Amino acid sequence: MKTRLFQTKPIQQLLSESEDKEHGFKKTLGPLNLTTLGIGAIIGAGIFVLTGQAAANYAGPAIVLSFIISGLACTFAGLCYAEFASMIPISGSAYTYAYSTMGEFLAWIIGWDLIIEYLFAASTVAVGWSGYFVSLLNDIGIHIAPQFAASPGTQLIQVPGMGWQATSSQLVTYLANHNIDVNTLPHVVGVLNIPAMIIIGLLTTLLVIGIKESANFNNVMVIVKVCVILLFIGVGIAFIKLENWHDFIPKNTGKWGEFGISGIFRGAAVIFFAYIGFDAVSTAAQEAKNPQRDMPRGILGSLGISTFLYIAVALVLTGIVSYTLLNVPDPVAVGVNAMGSTMAWLKPIVKIAAIAGLTSVILVMLLGQPRIFYTMSKDGLLPPVFSKVHPKFKTPYISSIITGAFAMILAGVLPINLLGELVSIGTLLAFAIVCVGIIVLRKTRPELPRPFRTPWVPFIPALGAIICIVQMASLPLDTWLRLIVWFAIGMIIYFTYGIKKSKLLKK
Ligand code: ALA
Repeated sequence: MKTRLFQTKPIQQLLSESEDKEHGFKKTLGPLNLTTLGIGAIIGAGIFVLTGQAAANYAGPAIVLSFIISGLACTFAGLCYAEFASMIPISGSAYTYAYSTMGEFLAWIIGWDLIIEYLFAASTVAVGWSGYFVSLLNDIGIHIAPQFAASPGTQLIQVPGMGWQATSSQLVTYLANHNIDVNTLPHVVGVLNIPAMIIIGLLTTLLVIGIKESANFNNVMVIVKVCVILLFIGVGIAFIKLENWHDFIPKNTGKWGEFGISGIFRGAAVIFFAYIGFDAVSTAAQEAKNPQRDMPRGILGSLGISTFLYIAVALVLTGIVSYTLLNVPDPVAVGVNAMGSTMAWLKPIVKIAAIAGLTSVILVMLLGQPRIFYTMSKDGLLPPVFSKVHPKFKTPYISSIITGAFAMILAGVLPINLLGELVSIGTLLAFAIVCVGIIVLRKTRPELPRPFRTPWVPFIPALGAIICIVQMASLPLDTWLRLIVWFAIGMIIYFTYGIKKSKLLKK
């Protein structure tokens, strides 16, 4: 039993599977499309929603340093992904890498863990998308009943000047400070987040139709968001007031993580979410024309471009508005407000960019998940329907539809804050395993051809793994408990299904 669980999948077998042209996907993606897929998955809720809260509550202007630290940690993991993805271009991503280095049981755990990263992230970001979309519609005079754009049971109140908001202790305190009695405001209770469900349904349909069509749509979304971010940076520089950067590292309040050096690290852990997604490039490995050459380009290129944009946005944003005013769901819009009424035209444009950004994140997450399911099913760990490829569209259509259906349900019924940290912890675990996998494979199979080599092994992967584990440790206990419950469910499925159906020892 022990050896059975730790049985690894031979690399040669994986390589011959990656070359199977007859039963597989269409190989249409070049280096540019792979890079835009990465940028599509990376730039989204992190920069458009979380930056402000992390600056206001933890790091102040030094959120710039948090972005550098988190970016560095992701670069270490990104280098490891680049080596694996160029060497084993299989759409299973971290699941496949674990299978070839640490054995079937751990591979299953990682595959199960990746559901948290991809499927849950798609739902989480769809809830954020719904908020931005409803607000944009509001601006042009179309009003959606608030109870149909919120998860069941969410208490919503209509705040003058702010529209419908979910009640939170911060909001109640804010209102009390402005002498507004919450009980006098109109209120409703959420029923279902319908816009979040609709966007997932639409994107799932696109993903079933084709990888090329999905990549083209993603390209448009990426162009919109990147252009607007560059515009914000370019225009914003003129409005920077140096006093907003003083103190660049605000004094610690006496509590760990509230400003000072510890605040920078806490900020880094929070905005880690903003970097999630570069690894999604590796799930498209079997659709890349030349994965050996282009996987590292797509992964590291998208990570590099996004890191640069994040640092620039954080610098400009904290330069034009005091970080104390950024504890809002739309910090970039607050930045535009601070530029004065002459720049009001930029506000709807920023909203459109945020919607485009969130749309592409949902799209690429919904693209990655079925491809991981496809690989797990090919290995026998999931039922065969998951690896059915559409005869005409050449997409894993059944697993795409199953993914979309689950993501829709989650997005319709769950509040956004429940899943965000779970997505981060799940992703950090996958990154740590991939980093360790590089060290293992360099020891066990040093002779294998590696089109891309992570530099300074074992130093970089070891540091990558350690930083990921430290960041995991800094997440709250209830996030850990949710992760453990999730793994317990996964283990039940493995021991009742996967272990019996696995094709590994049957070949
Ligand atoms: N990195 C993605 C985002 O920020 C998940 O939305």
